[in-house]
Amino acid sequence: YNVHRYSFILKETNFTRLCTTKPMLTVNGQFPGPTITVRKGDRAFVNVHNNGKYGVTIHWHGVKQPQNPWSDGPENITQCPIQPGKNFTYEVIFSDEEGTLWWHAHSDWSRATVHGPIVILPERGKSYPFPKPYAEKTIVLASWFNTDVKELIDDAMAIGGDPDPSDAFTINGWPGALYNCSNETISRLPVVFGMTYLLRLVSAVMNEEMFIAIAGHNFTVVAQDGAYIKPIPTSYIMITPGQTMDILLTANQPPSYYYMAARPFFESGAPFDNTTTTAILQYTNVIAAPTNISMPTLPIQTDHDSADNFTSKIKALASRDHPISVPKNVTKQVLITVSVNQLPCELGAGLCGGPNGNRISASLNNISFDTPTTDILQAYYRSLPNVFDSDFPDQPPLFFNFSGVNSSTYLLPEVGTKVLLIEYGASVEIVFQGTNVGNPENHPMHLHGYSFYVVGSAYGNWNETTSPATYNLIDPPAVNTVGVPKNGWTAIRFVADNPGVWFMHCHLERHASWGMDTVLIVKNGSSKRGTSIRRPPRNLPICG
Ligand code: C2O
Ligand code: CU
Repeated sequence: YNVHRYSFILKETNFTRLCTTKPMLTVNGQFPGPTITVRKGDRAFVNVHNNGKYGVTIHWHGVKQPQNPWSDGPENITQCPIQPGKNFTYEVIFSDEEGTLWWHAHSDWSRATVHGPIVILPERGKSYPFPKPYAEKTIVLASWFNTDVKELIDDAMAIGGDPDPSDAFTINGWPGALYNCSNETISRLPVVFGMTYLLRLVSAVMNEEMFIAIAGHNFTVVAQDGAYIKPIPTSYIMITPGQTMDILLTANQPPSYYYMAARPFFESGAPFDNTTTTAILQYTNVIAAPTNISMPTLPIQTDHDSADNFTSKIKALASRDHPISVPKNVTKQVLITVSVNQLPCELGAGLCGGPNGNRISASLNNISFDTPTTDILQAYYRSLPNVFDSDFPDQPPLFFNFSGVNSSTYLLPEVGTKVLLIEYGASVEIVFQGTNVGNPENHPMHLHGYSFYVVGSAYGNWNETTSPATYNLIDPPAVNTVGVPKNGWTAIRFVADNPGVWFMHCHLERHASWGMDTVLIVKNGSSKRGTSIRRPPRNLPICG
């Protein structure tokens, strides 16, 4: 494999969007941050210097990091933050990923401004499972907040309330024509008539699933989360926070300017950002800009038929060159309810910012995750007591009826730092059951250290006899993030062949902050090579 070296300087830089200027934390002064480019199986050493004001960590989203949880990044899960003035070199180990992934800060909400794409090309001498595109472009969707994101989430958490929604969405850092002060700076994607482009799309959006389309153009989705899928010709896509998609776009329309646009998909009922970001697909041989640029037709905000319709088409490529190996027999089954809940207000009755004057919280199996102050990996590796408990339940505490019959039982979660221990090599099935309690949106559940196969999903309650009969064990997609319907279930499978301490959480930042997280600890295998956690690197940031 080849080794790549990057230097990331974290620092506050002034940025102006929507006529508002604020200092914000970025890598190398860029928003979005720099792209990491490797080939399949390569290794990258990224030296992160923190010249910011507070401790930060970086996560390589979707990179499995075999045996190397030390460089995975989630704050207080696998490491303590890199303090201001300090640096830490991450060793990012690529294995079977190919396509597009991304990196982002994994400390509170700092990922809003600290993120960038990871491009993983085929091994030298190998080619894409589609005709070679004329050119490639990365497209990063993100959220812009006029205020400082750290203050925003710290203030909301202090009173247990809902943070304000973002003020804009951005495409490659710019909000686009439909926002004030933004028409001139809109992102442009120049294309040559007749050529096919590979668009590598990253959703770094904080809290909303997004629909995206390009006026006048259909396109073909060919990969998701760093793995190839069966090509999906479509006129729009739906992408959740955390996901990445590779798209082939042919510039085959009358040469002109066309808007690419993205706006959210969510059920009404919460104060989300419902604005639309745009960029211009611009044919290079157009001399005068058209006076009217056409807008794509996007599904409306609450259109879950369109969202489901797209999502249900995603199947693994499952070819001879890109085989899949979904476990047929499960040796460890875990059922997890996913809920937004409330906790009593510790500031005094009625003083908190959540519903009924309570504190908003969120949970998995009715346990709201409490992030420890010493990282769990360190505690596990060195057997330090009192950092976490290994009793995350593998069944929900109560049968859950999603229609709401016993929903009040789920309103009050237990708070704890509970992790789930898994034997090395287990064939794991996790069923996420959305409970529809207290929240109007789906949950993009993300697991570190693995890709998993999405074998089934439907509305209603998962049923142990009828639901498995609907599973796709032939070509389920291998992903790292999957949208769990708020009032339905999603079943995933994987072989626990990567020992380590791996965070699992909702990738809606609000939900993750409220406790919709847990940790899977996959134990070491027998002493055979390649089945144990590596030794910790030198100069790992120290806690406290
Ligand atoms: Cu994209 Cu735990 O992260
Ligand atoms: Cu969620």
